[in-house]
Amino acid sequence: MSDAPLVLGIETSCDETGVGIVRGETLLVDAVASSVEQHARFGGVVPEVASRAHLEAMAPTIERACRQAGVRLDDIDAFAVTSGPGLAGALLVGVAAAKALALALGKPLYGVNHLAAHVAVDQLEHGPLPEPTLALLVSGGHSSLLLVPDVTHDVRPLGATIDDAAGEAFDKVARLLGLPFPGGPHIDRVARDGDPASIAFPRGLSRPKDLERHRYDFSFSGLKTAVARWVEQRVALGENVSVPDVAASFQEAVVDVLTRKAVAACRDEGVDTLLVGGGVAANSRLRAMAAERCAAAGIELRVPRPGLCTDNGAMVAALGSSMVRRGRAPSALDLPADSSMPVTRVLA
Ligand code: KG4
Ligand code: ZN
Repeated sequence: MSDAPLVLGIETSCDETGVGIVRGETLLVDAVASSVEQHARFGGVVPEVASRAHLEAMAPTIERACRQAGVRLDDIDAFAVTSGPGLAGALLVGVAAAKALALALGKPLYGVNHLAAHVAVDQLEHGPLPEPTLALLVSGGHSSLLLVPDVTHDVRPLGATIDDAAGEAFDKVARLLGLPFPGGPHIDRVARDGDPASIAFPRGLSRPKDLERHRYDFSFSGLKTAVARWVEQRVALGENVSVPDVAASFQEAVVDVLTRKAVAACRDEGVDTLLVGGGVAANSRLRAMAAERCAAAGIELRVPRPGLCTDNGAMVAALGSSMVRRGRAPSALDLPADSSMPVTRVLA
């Protein structure tokens, strides 16, 4: 294993400055500095604040990662960085840092797709990815179903959200219920004391007519509005609103649609491995329902541990390492920070 490539990955697409180092498929360190607290009072990530925080955290986080892994920058065989998609200014900080390192040390640089990296990270925990794998990626910025024949160069989008991301819906509903940002973990916690069947909230894009055009797409904005109306009406009538019941019923609606569509996609495509990633993959109800439905359908479920599901540098290093081992040519040093990088482009 010691001759496997040593790869350092940098992630700055949103509010986490992540620096991960892997040797082959072995994770040596995953250092993360988050600016989430600076965004809390705005109820969402503020791009300019995130960029500035990345600039301040970048060099110290690289130093910390190297120190904890017991490696020197000279030892690194290749660098990888998130090229996109994400916040333009935030991506620029990571891409500029990675170019400087690659240029100064004369090492190859891989500018990789953030979504593919969310898939590749699972190899650090559960070993090589079956090919093909089907991936459900759900976070504050994205909600996608992907068919992944080869994570280093063949990723095919099957569906995505047509409005809010799943995590965004959690965050907005949490705000409505008076819970702090980011709201997902709070809804998850509060919902444990609620009845998920108490309120029948709508399942977006699930009626037969919608399924014809949007079989694998998601929509959460109607659900968010339905929750807001429901709460408003109860308040107007002077009735008590049970926050646990609303949280549990909302969460059930999101998780029901996500898992139903993911399992249907596995069946339709003849794929027997489902990987769930992104920050929302930390949700306890999503994990439980995915496990139940996958077991019933004979599908193997892979979910990385929560720290590897949220944005981090290890996922970028993991994808870079796969690229090196598959013999893919590195990116040119003029590689862009591409805020709308299509998921079909794995390498910039
Ligand atoms: O992957 P991530 O760290 O960053 C983005 O790329 O967005 O995901 C953050 C999102 C937030 O919307 C947060 O509310 C959500 O993931 N999240 C959760 C849970 N933990 C984090 N949503 C539901 N249940 C959770 N336990
Ligand atoms: Zn992400």
